[in-house]
Amino acid sequence: MTSAPPFELRARAIAHSNIALAKYWGKSTRGDNLTAVPSLSMTLDALSSRTEVRFDARLSQDELMLNGKELGERELERVAALLQRVRIASGLQHFARVESENNFPTAAGLASSASGFAALALAALGATGRPFTTWQASRLARQSSASAARSLFGGFVELGTEAEAGSPYLPGSHWDLTMLVAVIEDAKKPVSSTLGMEHTRQTSPFYSAWVKAAPETFAEVRDALKAREFAVLARAMEHSTLAMHATMSSAKPPVLYFRGPSTELIHAIRARREKGYPESFTLDAGPNVKLLTLTEHAGRAEEFLRGFPGVNAVLRAKPGPSASLLSLENTLGEAKRLELAEQVG
Ligand code: DP6
Repeated sequence: MTSAPPFELRARAIAHSNIALAKYWGKSTRGDNLTAVPSLSMTLDALSSRTEVRFDARLSQDELMLNGKELGERELERVAALLQRVRIASGLQHFARVESENNFPTAAGLASSASGFAALALAALGATGRPFTTWQASRLARQSSASAARSLFGGFVELGTEAEAGSPYLPGSHWDLTMLVAVIEDAKKPVSSTLGMEHTRQTSPFYSAWVKAAPETFAEVRDALKAREFAVLARAMEHSTLAMHATMSSAKPPVLYFRGPSTELIHAIRARREKGYPESFTLDAGPNVKLLTLTEHAGRAEEFLRGFPGVNAVLRAKPGPSASLLSLENTLGEAKRLELAEQVG
């Protein structure tokens, strides 16, 4: 018989979404959700997830509530797998209740797995009351969703080939950039990234070429970002995007995420750059186009996107902060709690 717990282990965390400038698509054959290519992203200040984890001896299974809605078995599976890793590592046995909210409209059709799993990893580790590092939180997030490893850190963040965790590359203050998200379609994507990339790996004749070429593109993105060379960065990040989508398109059957307006917008952005506008594009596993620009030009770029046929909404973000714990409630004393909060800062 399990007796009622004398306390609850509870923590709340916030993490921000990120968009890759050098893309990850494909998992290493070593398993454990390690990535086959290096990636580099910008954390976004405007898009975040807040997640609370409460380990509680009264629960008979893990529970998940997302944006006020109780979710069932299927959605719970990946979350429960993360919680299970935490239980094994910490020796805790209790099930947990997870409550998560995204501050961006779910209808925007944006992947929330990066910010969601980053916040979940941080809150789950925080709730155990045991000391841990940001590296450990990033590793835990990466095992569930590789792009989430990058959301533990602010500014510009790397995840190397087969890297256990993300690592900060440059602070957001390095360059005053703005990311505009042009929402073209808000439906849930037909093929998830996880399934899409595995299918690509198994069936695309171009997949091995993508894996071979990706490190060079990653290095170009990395160097251009450091040197603040917008035109060079634009070429490298667009190459990363199009090479990734070309690889998906050559899978059998193809994995196609572009819609008509996505393609039209790509042409328009390239034409505008020819005219001298600092604008470049990237797309993930969906039809929405993300436009990167210098913040001083962001107003004009946003106006252009809002007037573009097929664009239903525009979200605006600058480089965001690292993930952080918002509160810790457990049996530890106040001093220990503050020490922990500082460690994961
Ligand atoms: C196209 O991180 O969502 O956004 O590791 O299977 O959860 P899993 O995949 P996920 O893939 C992201 C792919 C991408 C590019 C990127 O963010 O690097």
